Amino acid sequence: MCIQCGHRALQWHGRCPECGSWDSLAKAPQDSGVASAPVPLAEVDFTSNPRLSTGLGELDRVLGGGLVAGSVVLIAGEPGIGKSTLMLQAAVRLEQEGRMVLVCGEESVDQVAARAARVGRLQKAVATSATDLGSVMAHIAGAHVAIIDSIQALRDPSAPGDAGSVSQVRACAAELARAARSTGVSLFLIGHVTKDGYVAGPKVLEHLVDAVVTFEGDRGHALRTIRASKNRFGPTAEVGVFEMGPSGLSEVADASRLFLRDRRPGVAGSAVTCVLEGRRPMALEVQTLVRRSQAPVPRRTTNGLDGGRLGLVAAVLDRRAGITLGNCDVFASIPGGIRSTEPAIDLALAFALASARLNRPVPPDVAFIGEVGLAGEVRAVPGLSARLNEISRLGFGQALVPASAEEDGSAPGNLQVKGVSDIAQALNEML
Ligand code: TYD
Ligand code: MG
Repeated sequence: MCIQCGHRALQWHGRCPECGSWDSLAKAPQDSGVASAPVPLAEVDFTSNPRLSTGLGELDRVLGGGLVAGSVVLIAGEPGIGKSTLMLQAAVRLEQEGRMVLVCGEESVDQVAARAARVGRLQKAVATSATDLGSVMAHIAGAHVAIIDSIQALRDPSAPGDAGSVSQVRACAAELARAARSTGVSLFLIGHVTKDGYVAGPKVLEHLVDAVVTFEGDRGHALRTIRASKNRFGPTAEVGVFEMGPSGLSEVADASRLFLRDRRPGVAGSAVTCVLEGRRPMALEVQTLVRRSQAPVPRRTTNGLDGGRLGLVAAVLDRRAGITLGNCDVFASIPGGIRSTEPAIDLALAFALASARLNRPVPPDVAFIGEVGLAGEVRAVPGLSARLNEISRLGFGQALVPASAEEDGSAPGNLQVKGVSDIAQALNEML
């Protein structure tokens, strides 16, 4: 196995065929199994997993109702996104449950204390900047909860490679996970993900941990989302939303209002839709700008949405509704620092594009929910009633939905729900 990238080969190579590092192949370690006698499934009490609240409702929800005692949770994300901050904030509550140890191999204890002072009051938690696996194991022995910041900073002298290499990360995480299962300490492992290079990330650790929580966001925005990409003790559909501010992360209970806060109703090229992140509906604005292109090849620029979806909707508008964008530069954006690749935004995107091209604003109190097919048909999307409830709560007057699903989303409150089956017809009626 290559100690840099984790590539497995059947024979030794002087140079790893996968990542190209020299002299990095070593004999792969054998995973030692855990010996335990089979038990009758019917007698297992699975309801009694005690859960600890992290004091952060959004994080608890993503974990499936709090941290399960004795579980190992990987918090994965790019450097600087806010992983250490989130964990310090969770520590404020978790330290009340028992002994809490912060292993901060990345930073000095002073730095951690300074940050802790910004985000909350830690009274009892102890911190160490040990990076040697043996010392870390000794420090977390008997702890109730331990936070390892980060797994890439630890080093197991008995495993090959430098700190942060696949072999090191795997060896350290396996040892920590074993400790968690045998002693009942709950572990948060922080893991860095970088876009380039062979840095050992969540892929290497996924099978060793009980839950993987990925932290996402755009460094230029305050918005941060967390979601579980794996969860042995709960659903993976939940999304938590936070805003990064001067005193750390604050929970965003009403994400829709955040996304619509700075909207300018009545401007051509803007349409509101409602996406479903997990089970949570979030209304957001789709913005487009269309202008005559000066370049030989017109530009297509997207922010927060998929370039492929933009191409598809633009093609459908061209062929099915006679709205041509061929010689125009097209910019499409979901502002606010959120990304959505859901087909349910198609209808809003189509209206935004047509509105920008025709320079006629979309009525400001209408929301658009639906997928657009290549035949120009408006197709059903899942979770329509949750989306309509959200739209109604925000005070919108009308929602355009797929005609085939009109009855599924019974109109909540004063919202008028209108089914449309064809994009060209819908555009004609509304614009
Ligand atoms: P951090 O938690 O150190 O990120 P990670 O552990 O994922 O590398 O967060 C770093 C960023 O967050 C940094 O750019 C500063 C910013 N930040 C705030 O804006 N407000 C705060 O209160 C804190 C603690 C950090
Ligand atoms: Mg950090």
